[in-house]
Amino acid sequence: MRSTFLLLIAAVCGAVVLSQTRVHPLHAQARDPVALTGQVTSTEGPMEGVLVSVKKTGSTITTTVVTDEQGRYRFARTRLEPGQYALRVRAVGYDLEGAGTVDVVDHKTATADLKLQKARDLGSQLSNAEWLASFPGTDAQKASIKPCTHCHTLERIVRTRYTADQLVSVIERMATYPQLSFPLKIQKLPAPRIGGGPDSPDQRRAAWRRQAEYLATINLSTSPQWSYALKTLPRPKGKATQVIYTEYDLPQRTRQPHDVIVDSTGMAWYASFGEQILGKLDPRTGKVTEYPVPLLKPEAPTGILGVRFDKDENPWLGMQFQGGIAKFDRKTETFQTWSLPRELNGPHVQINQVSPGRAHVDGKVWLQDAGTYTVLRLDPGSGKFDVFEPYAIPRPNVYDVIPDAQNNGYFLVLGTNDVGRIDAKSGKITIFKTPTPGSGPRRGMMDSQGRLWFGENNGDRIGMFDTRTERFQEWAAPTPGTWPYDATSDKDGKVWSGGEFTDRILRLDPRTGQFVEYLLPRPTNVRRVFVDNRTTPPTFWVGNNHGASIVKLEPLE
Ligand code: HEC
Repeated sequence: MRSTFLLLIAAVCGAVVLSQTRVHPLHAQARDPVALTGQVTSTEGPMEGVLVSVKKTGSTITTTVVTDEQGRYRFARTRLEPGQYALRVRAVGYDLEGAGTVDVVDHKTATADLKLQKARDLGSQLSNAEWLASFPGTDAQKASIKPCTHCHTLERIVRTRYTADQLVSVIERMATYPQLSFPLKIQKLPAPRIGGGPDSPDQRRAAWRRQAEYLATINLSTSPQWSYALKTLPRPKGKATQVIYTEYDLPQRTRQPHDVIVDSTGMAWYASFGEQILGKLDPRTGKVTEYPVPLLKPEAPTGILGVRFDKDENPWLGMQFQGGIAKFDRKTETFQTWSLPRELNGPHVQINQVSPGRAHVDGKVWLQDAGTYTVLRLDPGSGKFDVFEPYAIPRPNVYDVIPDAQNNGYFLVLGTNDVGRIDAKSGKITIFKTPTPGSGPRRGMMDSQGRLWFGENNGDRIGMFDTRTERFQEWAAPTPGTWPYDATSDKDGKVWSGGEFTDRILRLDPRTGQFVEYLLPRPTNVRRVFVDNRTTPPTFWVGNNHGASIVKLEPLE
C-alpha cells in the first residue's frame, strides 16, 4: 500500500517536472488566463496582422500583440496587471475608432472589440520604405535621397512646400550636421572627413541641386496634395503575428539608443548616439539607471555609437568625435577612457566602433575611425594604438571591425563590397569581395562557427562570410527597400536583421531561405540588432534610435 502511494507521488512529480521543462514560458502564456481580449474589424471584416498596443496610465512600458486570422488578439494575465490602459493600433491605412482606453481587472477577462476606420492621414503612417516605393523617379534619384533618413523621416521632407532653390539651402544646412545630430538635439560637424579624399565643391553643389530638383517634384511645392498614390506594405500574416513586443520608454526624448545589448543577468545596456550617456534598463521593472560618460574633447560633438561587451560583459563605447573609447566596469561602476594620440586626433576623427570581444586572447581591442576610414587596435595596458590602412586615400567608407576567435580583425566596407581581414600577428591585410557588387557591408557579428554575418546596406541583402572556407552567401531581403543595416545569428542558427526603412525585423532561417518579417509597433529607426540566447526561442532586442525607447521582441514559436 505504502509503496503504491510513493509511486503515485513520484509519477505526479515526474509529470509536473516534465511539463515544466517541455513547455516554454512563452508557449504557456498563450494558454495562460487572459486579461484582455477582443476582435479587430473594419469594412474588410475581421483583420489579421493588426498590432494592438496597451500602456498602463503612468507607466513607461507598452505591450503589443498581433491579431490572428480571425482578427482576435489576447493579452495573458501574466503580462498585464490590473489598471487603466490606453489602447493603440498599427494597421497601415486605418485609425482606431473611438477613445481607446480599457480597464483590466483581477480575476476577470476584459473584452475590447476594436473598430477601425479609414486613416484620416495616411501619409503620417508610412514607413520610409513605403514613401520611397510611392515616389515617382528613377532608382538613382531615389538612392540619392536615401541618406536623408539617418536623422529624420522622409515624411518631414515631402510635407514641405519648398521650391528647388529653397531646398538647395536646406540641404546645404543638413551637410553641416554630423550623423548623431537629429531635430531634437542639434550638433554641428566640427570638420569634414578626410578618408574619402578632398571633394570638389562644384561637384557637391551639383549633387545638392539634383537632389533638390528631384525633391521639389515629390513634396508639396506645386500642389496641396501629393500627385502620386501612397503605396503601403501588406500587414503581417501567419508566423509574423505570433509575437509579443515590449517597449520601454527612456527618460528623455533626446536619448538615441543606437546600440542595445543585453548581459547574462538580463540587463539591457544602451548608449545615447548624441549624448554622453550610458544607460542600463532592468526589463523586469522598467527601471533605468544612467551613467554620465566622461568628456575627452569638451568642444566636440557628444555621443556614442558602438557598444559592445568584453568577455566579462563590461560595455565598451565608441566615443565618436570625442576621439577615443571608454570601458565601463560593471562592478565598480567607473569608466576608463583612452584618447587617440595627438597626431592622430584631429577634429575630423570619429571613433564609431569598438570590438573588445576577444581582447582576452592577446590583450588587444579593435576599433575604427570614420574620419579617416582606418582600422585601429589598442593595447589598453600601454595605451598604444596601431593604425591599419587597408586603402590609399581616396578610401571607401570602412564601417565596422569584428574579431574572430584568434582576435584577427575582420572589417566591413560600406563604401564598396569588401570584407577585409587583418592578421592579428603579422598585420597582413586580405580583401574578399561579396558576390553582389556595391553591396555595402555595414555591421555584423561573428558566430561560434567563425561565420561573419552582416547587413548589406546597399545590396538589400543579408551577407555571410565563412572565415574558414572563405566563401560568401547572400540572401535578398523579402521586402525590397529593407536595406539591412546589421545582422546577428542566434543559438538556433536563425539570423536577425533590420534597418532604417521598413520598421520590420527579419528572421531568416538560412537552411531554408525562409524569412519571417515582424512589423514593429512604432516607427523605428533600426541600427544595431541583438539577440538574447538565454530564452527559448531567443529574444530579440533593438533600440528605437529616433523614438527614445528600447524594444523587446519575443517570438511565440
Ligand atoms: C545628419 C543629420 C541629418 C541628415 C542626414 C538630414 N537632415 Fe534634415 N534635418 C536635420 C536636423 C537636425 C533638422 C532640424 C534642424 C534644421 O531644420 O536645420 C532637420 C530638418 C530638416 C527639414 C525641416 C526643416 C525646414 O527648414 O523645414 C527638412 C526639409 C530637411 N531636414 C530635409 C533634409 C533632406 C532633404 C535631407 C537629405 C538630403 C536631410 N534633411 C538629411 C538633420 C539631418
